[in-house]
Amino acid sequence: MGNIFLDTLKGKSRERPPVWYMRQAGRVLPSYCSLKAKHSFWEMMRNPELAAKVTMLPVNDLDVDGAILFSDILVIPHALGMGLEFTDAGPVFELSLKKQAPPYTASLKSQPEKLNYIYDVIRETVRIKPADIPLIGFCGGPLTVLCYMIEGLGTRTDFPEVPKFIYKNKREVAKLVDLITELSLTYMEGQINNGIDIFQLFETHAGLVPAEIYFELFMPAVEKLGKYAKEKNIPFIYFPKGLGTGIERITPDICDFISIDWQMPLPDARKLVHPEIGLQGNLDPRVLFAGKEEINFALDKLYEFGQKEYRWIFNLGHGFLPDTPYENARYITNWVKTTNWNRR
Ligand code: CP3
Repeated sequence: MGNIFLDTLKGKSRERPPVWYMRQAGRVLPSYCSLKAKHSFWEMMRNPELAAKVTMLPVNDLDVDGAILFSDILVIPHALGMGLEFTDAGPVFELSLKKQAPPYTASLKSQPEKLNYIYDVIRETVRIKPADIPLIGFCGGPLTVLCYMIEGLGTRTDFPEVPKFIYKNKREVAKLVDLITELSLTYMEGQINNGIDIFQLFETHAGLVPAEIYFELFMPAVEKLGKYAKEKNIPFIYFPKGLGTGIERITPDICDFISIDWQMPLPDARKLVHPEIGLQGNLDPRVLFAGKEEINFALDKLYEFGQKEYRWIFNLGHGFLPDTPYENARYITNWVKTTNWNRR
């Protein structure tokens, strides 16, 4: 038997689902918070020893089955030349696209060498991690990255200007998506060449525009990324949060697994999603603020699903929220790992 995470991604039936969490590296871990008191986020990200250490914290503290690279989706706009700062109130760009005039691509220039430090982090992580823990690499989906580039700051996540910008500037948006995608492909190649085992695309704001617009302007870019991962034999997980019933139009050449958000029950997602594509998700991260009874109720529902569905990775329906009680995160991992899933 191989590794439980990679086996599941390959469609092999295992005794339980593998478990990891989106945003597992920050936010919930007391060990992360104490490091954060001493170093800024940029500082931790750019120091290979520190970043590799943070990447491994959830494996040690939460006992998850996979490690996710400690970095951020906004490294792409930064490597396109946008000034970026991570403040206490979230990320802020020096000059957002909405404050500029067309052609919006004029101020951007692809500088792939700005991503090199991340490859050092990956190599250091591979050096220190146990061989049976796969390393997940990632980048942001084209729409999500564009949202931050247009709006310029990160604490507001409703992005009121973005749909208007897209409708007004469709041709320009297509060019921006191309720029983001080309650099994301180079970045993905770098991550793969330096040792990641799995790739996840975080399209957190897929639900911001109607599905038709998403499929027209952004899905071709996702398909390019997915096909490249397939060529390189790297399992590709796609998280299109808020895409709703649009998930039924995703084909197996785009991705191997879809990460389902908490808005859609997994049995419904299973009916919609192409049978060759596996599922990941989708515990509501807010349930972790509830008492044990309510947590157990949510877990029971996932148990029903996971008993029959072995092409499934246990995860949240979106990342951990700040201040999530750490004990509850531990409790859930332990539950996934010690439950008898009664699979045959
Ligand atoms: O999963 C992990 O913990 C690994 C690393 C990771 C981070 N960001 C670290 C981070 C990952 C996978 C991301 C993805 C990311 N970043 C997304 C997509 C997933 C999602 O949650 O929707 C988005 C939209 C971003 C953009 C971003 N980066 C925001 C909005 C913020 C500020 C708010 C916050 O705390 O998330 C960041 C900063 C950031 N990225 C931090 C961390 C640990 C916080 C830095 C700090 O501790 O001050």
